[in-house]
Amino acid sequence: MIASSVDNVTRVLSMNEFAGRGAGSGRRAFVRGMTAVAATSCIRRPQAAGSRARLAMLVPASEREVWSPLADAFERSHPSTRVHLVEGPSSTDLRENLYTASLLAGDDSFDLVLMDVTWAAKFAAAGWLAPLDAAFGREAQEAFLPQALEAGRYDGRLYRIPMRTDVGVLYFRRDWLDQAGRQPPRTFEELAQAARALQDPPHRWGFVWQGSQYEGLVCFFLEVLRGHGGFWVDAATLDVGLDRPESVAALEFLRGARLEQPISPPGVTTYKEEESRRLFQDGRAIFLRNWPYVWRLAQAADSPLAGKVGVQAMVSVSGQPGAGTLGGWGLGVSRYSPNPDLAVAFIRHATSIDGQRALCRTSGYVPARIQALEDPVLLGANPFLATLRTIHESAVARPGLPRYALASDILQRRLSAALAGMASASDTLRTAARETRQILEGSAGRGDP
Ligand code: GLC
Repeated sequence: MIASSVDNVTRVLSMNEFAGRGAGSGRRAFVRGMTAVAATSCIRRPQAAGSRARLAMLVPASEREVWSPLADAFERSHPSTRVHLVEGPSSTDLRENLYTASLLAGDDSFDLVLMDVTWAAKFAAAGWLAPLDAAFGREAQEAFLPQALEAGRYDGRLYRIPMRTDVGVLYFRRDWLDQAGRQPPRTFEELAQAARALQDPPHRWGFVWQGSQYEGLVCFFLEVLRGHGGFWVDAATLDVGLDRPESVAALEFLRGARLEQPISPPGVTTYKEEESRRLFQDGRAIFLRNWPYVWRLAQAADSPLAGKVGVQAMVSVSGQPGAGTLGGWGLGVSRYSPNPDLAVAFIRHATSIDGQRALCRTSGYVPARIQALEDPVLLGANPFLATLRTIHESAVARPGLPRYALASDILQRRLSAALAGMASASDTLRTAARETRQILEGSAGRGDP
């Protein structure tokens, strides 16, 4: 059974990875692979307990504590319903694969789809989600941060209601910069200089970030790219900007940070969010690129960093505040759910002001409901929310394409090779641009996932 079974999740994953997210694998092979995965794996709807209806959703195992209070409160107000939190891996790419395998097979394992900000286009274009416009009218929609809400729209209809929003930020050791008489950096050059001057590798590194081959690397690269004045894919025109000089300069900055004049540890190419945070939290890094959840952990009373950390928007070549990548999570309803009305009721509950308090008070996540961002209870627990709202306003969105996962996969693979020293920045990006244009050609970019 899939319910709470990490073993099965792992098994599905390895087959799923074999099925390939890669651009080269082709859609038919991908579909065949996914169908085989779904058919042969243990993705099955958990059995109902007695006569209780069930609502199942896949969440990162590390978030069970965050979701449980929401699920418990819903069960109390809907005593004939059981909410199943199926634990999955923490990486967004891997959970997307699991949902894809299940939905592609048209099975009803999941009623609720907990979606990253980038998934809605693909899932909606494939017909896997129920539209939510009727259930969430204009007034209900206007209660959310516009950018977070927009990420759930595809072809004029709404498929995802935002739960929490995210934006990439730059954390730094304020105490160390103060001691050295330095201001927080405004440009990439200032960041690199401060990192070089204050680091003492391998005990203390200059700059840690998410360099593993996964979605987090794309998020970070997009910030460096924007900070150099470049762009990846323009979602409206499908223009690809990867082979422009700004993109090459952005990748050269990252290669320099890891390879040429290192300010980042060699292992940075294996780091996801938590690996990079731990190094920073252990006092072994001066600068960290990460999401807002780190603030609460770094400032906790038992944290060695309490009172020593600063946070700001990512730097840029011009010295103007740069842009963080827009992230975030929201809920949709599977087209195959036997309980779509209950699923909508759960989304209403989870995105209500009380639901947002339950989700964000203890986790440090940023609520997507505007009223929650101004809520004294949440602001009291996390005053940083006020700063974040400003940074959020200039966030850079990843392109909302049905073929987003393929475009991201190209970038992930090419960037990883360049960061490993296997190709120059310009060769890497020329190839990545060509491959990206290929998958976006014709109807592929907008219509056919
Ligand atoms: C965070 C963001 C999400 C992003 C992911 C990358 O979970 O909210 O949007 O895709 O990190 O690792």
